[in-house]
This record gives sequence, C-alpha cells and structure tokens, in this order.
Amino acid sequence: MWYGGDYNPEQWNPETIDEDIRLMKQMHVNCATVGVFAWPKLEPEDGVFQFEWMDQVLDRLYQEHIDVILATPTTAMPYWLEHKYPDIMHVDIEGRRVQGGSREKICPNSRVYRKYSARIAGELAKRYGHHPAVKLWHINNEYHFYCYCPACAEEFRNWLQKKYKDIDAVNTAWNTAFWGHTYTSFSQILPPSYLTDIKRNQLAGRDVACFQGQYIDYMRFMSSSVRSCIENEKREIRKYSSLPVTNNFSDLVKTYDYWEISKAIDVISWDNYPTFHTPMYKPAFIHDLMRSMKSQPFLMMEQNPGNISWEDYGPVKRPGEVADICWQSTAHGADSNLFFQWRQSRGGVEKFHGAMIPHSGRLDTRMGNELIQLGEQFERLGSTVEGAMPDARAAILFDWENWWALEGSAIHNCHLKYYDQILKYYRAFYEMGIPVDVVCESTCMDKQYDLIAAPCFYMCSHEFSEKVKDYVNAGGTFLTTFLSGITDRTDNVILGGYPGAFRDVLGLWVEEIDGMYPDMRNSIVLKDGSQYDCGEVCDLIRLETAKAIGLYGKDFYRNTPCVTVNTYGDGHAYYIGTSPEHGFIKKLLSDICRDLQLTQYDLPENVEIAFRIKNGKNYTFLMNHNNESVNINLDHSYHDIISGARMYGLISMQPRQCMILENLIPAD
Ligand code: GLA
Ligand code: ZN
Repeated sequence: MWYGGDYNPEQWNPETIDEDIRLMKQMHVNCATVGVFAWPKLEPEDGVFQFEWMDQVLDRLYQEHIDVILATPTTAMPYWLEHKYPDIMHVDIEGRRVQGGSREKICPNSRVYRKYSARIAGELAKRYGHHPAVKLWHINNEYHFYCYCPACAEEFRNWLQKKYKDIDAVNTAWNTAFWGHTYTSFSQILPPSYLTDIKRNQLAGRDVACFQGQYIDYMRFMSSSVRSCIENEKREIRKYSSLPVTNNFSDLVKTYDYWEISKAIDVISWDNYPTFHTPMYKPAFIHDLMRSMKSQPFLMMEQNPGNISWEDYGPVKRPGEVADICWQSTAHGADSNLFFQWRQSRGGVEKFHGAMIPHSGRLDTRMGNELIQLGEQFERLGSTVEGAMPDARAAILFDWENWWALEGSAIHNCHLKYYDQILKYYRAFYEMGIPVDVVCESTCMDKQYDLIAAPCFYMCSHEFSEKVKDYVNAGGTFLTTFLSGITDRTDNVILGGYPGAFRDVLGLWVEEIDGMYPDMRNSIVLKDGSQYDCGEVCDLIRLETAKAIGLYGKDFYRNTPCVTVNTYGDGHAYYIGTSPEHGFIKKLLSDICRDLQLTQYDLPENVEIAFRIKNGKNYTFLMNHNNESVNINLDHSYHDIISGARMYGLISMQPRQCMILENLIPAD
C-alpha cells in the first residue's frame, strides 16, 4: 500500500530534500511520484539532457526506502520546444491555434510532439529503467489534449478511411443526405468544430452535432489519438524497462473514452478531488469503474489534504475527512493513497492548493497530525487488503459513446445528463451496500451477473442486444430506462418502434417520448397506491408481453404504463420509462435485489459499507461519512483492523470513522 504523493524537488532548492525526507519519514511516506513537470529541467535545450539532479533524487529516495513512480514530463512542454514548433500546439474548437504556456495545450497528432515525447520517455527509461527505487511508469498526466488542427484533420481522414474503406459507407453511417451534405471524397471531411458541424447550445451548456455519427467518430478518434500518445511513449520505455505503466485519469471527464485509453496502460490510476458538496456515492462510482476496467485493484494517484484551488471556494477538509476519502478509495479497491502534492507550491496557479507539507513547513498541526496518523494506519495495515476484490453480483453499464451520443443529439430533453442518470441508479445500489461492477458492452458478459442495469443505454449494437436476449433468456435480470436502445452504434435510429434494440426482451414499444420542461412533472402510481414523482422524460408505452408495475398519475396519459417487467425465457427485463425520484429507484432496485437474494443493508444516512475479499477472507469496510457520530448495530462480533478493537452490538462510530471488520468472531 503506497502512501505519499507527487514530489517535485526540481521546484525547490536542492537542500530542501533533507527536510523533505525527515518529514516523509515522520509521515510514514513510502512512495513519491517524481518528474511530472520536469521537462525543462531534464532537457533544458533540444537534445541536451541533464539527469544528475534526478540521479541524486532517486538515489536518495532509494536509500530512504521510498519507492518511486517515475513520470514522463510530457504534459507540459518546455518553451524552447513550443517556440521552435508552433504547430505542436493545439487548435481549439473555435479554430484558434493556442500559443503555449500553461500545460496540456498539445496537439495529440503532432509528429513533432510524438517524436520529442518519445525521446524524453526513452532517455528516462534508458537511465532509470533499472533503478532500484523505480517501480512504475507514470506516462504524461491527466490527458486534456483536444485538437482541430490540419494535422488532426488529416489523421482523422486516415482513421475514417481505415474504418469505412469507401466514402459511401461514411455517408450512410453519418446519414449525410440529411441537409444535403453527401461527401464525394474523404478529402472533404473536416473535424466537427464550431466552424463546421457543431452548434453550441448555450442554455443547456452543451455542444450539439449536426451529424452525430461524425461527432462520435471524432470523439472516438481523439480517444484513440490519446491512446496512441501513450503507446508512443510506452514503446520507447519498453526498449529499456518492463515495469508497468499507468496514466492518471482526471476524475471522470466526458471528453475521452477511458475504456479505450485503458487498453494502453497496465495499471489503472485516477485523481480524486471531491469538493465540499460532492456526495460520497460519486467518488464511489468512479472507484468502482476504475476497479472494473481491468478487474483488478487500481491506484489512487492524487488526492488533496487541504483546500482545492480550482473551485471558487476552497473549504479546508473537515476533521477526519482526508482519512475518510482515503479509506473509501481503499474500500473500493485502491491499493495506494497518494496526494497532490507533497510540498505546497510557493507560487503559480496552485499555490493555495493544499499539500501534505503546507507553507508553514510544519507537521505539528491539525492536518499534519491527521496525515501522520493515517500514514501509521496504512503502515500497520501493510498488505492485508492489497489485491483484494469485491464479489459484485450486479453491474451497471457506463459508456462514453452513449454519453457523447445522448448529449450530442438534439434530444427530447437537452438538459438531461447521461452521467447523472447513471449516478441515480448507482446511488441506490450504494445506499443498499450492494457491490457493483461498472461495465461496457465488451466487458458486460465476462462474468455471470445476477443483475445488469443499463440506464439511458441509448446507442446499442445489434450484437449486444442479442447478448442481452441470451442473458435474460438464460435467467438474468436486465433493467433499462427511457432513451435506451434507440439507435445503433452510428446513432441512426433503429426503426419499427422504440426501443428497437430491446423491444423483444422488454416486451413493449414506445409510441411517443414526452420531453418535459422542468415545471412539467408527472408521477408513478404503484398498485398499493403509493406515488413517486417523476419527470424530464416520459415514455408513452404500448405493452406487448410486458406487465405494468407502475402507471402514470397525471396528464393525458394518466393510467398508462410507465414502469414494466417482462418475463423472457428464464429471466426478467425491467423498463423504467421516466426519470423517477430517488425513492422510487431505491424501492424498485431493493425489490429486485431481494428477489435475487442479494444481501442489502439498512444503514444510517451517509454510512457506507463496502467489501474486499482475499484468500477466502472478507474485509468489510464500514464508513461513517458524517461529521457527527452515528450508532450502528452489529449483528456479530468483529475485529476492527484499523483500531485493533473488538466490535459487537450497538457501537458508536466517530465522525468520519472507518472500520475494517475482519473475521467473524462468534458472539459471547
Ligand atoms: C490535477 C493534476 C495536478 C494538479 C491537481 C490540482 O489532478 O494532475 O497536476 O494540478 O489537479 O488539483
Ligand atoms: Zn491537432
């Protein structure tokens, strides 16, 4: 279990390292990420490398038994490189070539960038590939490369040519006959930007594509461009080193398909910055996604022990909050807890962004003590839960292509957010303590899940809809919602009644889709008379073999079905034709999970339970995310690994306390 953070000694006097080491030892730090922004210091002039300072840093860390995650510095380019090759900078969606400075302003398809980034990665690997401190390569940092330049346009055309072979296939996929935009040659194709085929919907704050197929292909192409940037550096690294490679994902961003990018890396890692108002189920969802991507534990590469400086307001972390965030990531499968950054910067845009060592340089502080205690706890935990995984019986489909397609279309409700819809369903599982994997079309059937939820699974391939049929037929439970199965993977509608892809398995069809203004609400009425609020989108449903579970309570379609279930072969398929309030989703999922005999927990608000299993041992993480204490009734006697205490019966959990309950001990 690594504990530590981004270490940037090149931003400080060389003597600072002595004090750094002293403090790292005090804090039980055993890992440092080095070199993320060090390109100008490593290569001050074109082809002139300067490694002595890095030798000293790595040697020193090694002597002190601190492992190193060595970064390639390719996220921020030196000025000499930017000035020599202005085309290396990206062109934004408004068609402006940016001028360097800041960071991440790179064209991912620039041949010059590819050449220089591979060279510095290779030089680092040549020198440090066998350095005993180095344990992992950290390629680049949080990709934010997006570009609409002529080089990207040309590569896009090549990518399309490979994918579609001839131009007619492109026209069919993009349905270009609409508005008379049939292409007669690949050379006519440009990236979809504000100058070409993208319109900005200011009100909804999103970009809408004139031709969704083109837009989605461009997004796919950009993701694969980033993937090849990683592969480009990795190829050079592999000449000298066989150590695993990671790239730290930046939270969860819409712009890149993480499923695609993850193919280029060996270990998944991500940066978690929950802010004051972030509900804890949100990072939990991303953790589960990260763990599911390679069905293995992931690394928590960056977290923050203080103020966050990229928000307008930067509250300090409340007592116990940092540990709470770290234990939550551990509970969901993280095998490290690292921070950005070790020492708080003196200047620059992030000078007030919290760090492990604050500007005072002291550790005899509230946060200093918390970090020391946390370091001790991780040290004592050792490798106990390292490598452990949960046994999730339920899965949620999460798919970037659907995110792009749904929000890139002028759809029935342009304010509908794909990610929010996914989180609504995830939250219900989370609150019930039911472990879930997060899957995509290609990983969904890898495991025999009892339940697969596919909220707003708008685009669906024919192959996948066939797999869903087989899955349900064989006894699986499938749940989907409005705006699912509407289009194929080119985002052209599947004709013959929505939702074309899932019509058979759901046993219904949707005649009309009511896209509702915020002040238009409806309700779901259940057989027992209970009612739940719903809105955003309401499907007008025609039943075939499905049965209604809930009916609409209002409007001209009052008393028509809005929630249904269909028995299909040995399984069941549920359809929720509207966006319900949280209480309804929780009730429905709870009923379904009860039928499936998935254990659910009734916990106080903001108390979370999560599991990791290893060598037949189950480690139950019980987390109080509240700033107040709560009482919990434990049904059995447990040993809490963190406090070392034995827990039984009615216990009081301190604010932000986490317990790892191990080994059921028979009660007295
Ligand atoms: C990101 C970056 C870091 C730093 C932090 C600050 O995660 O990777 O370099 O900018 O944000 O929040
Ligand atoms: Zn470009």
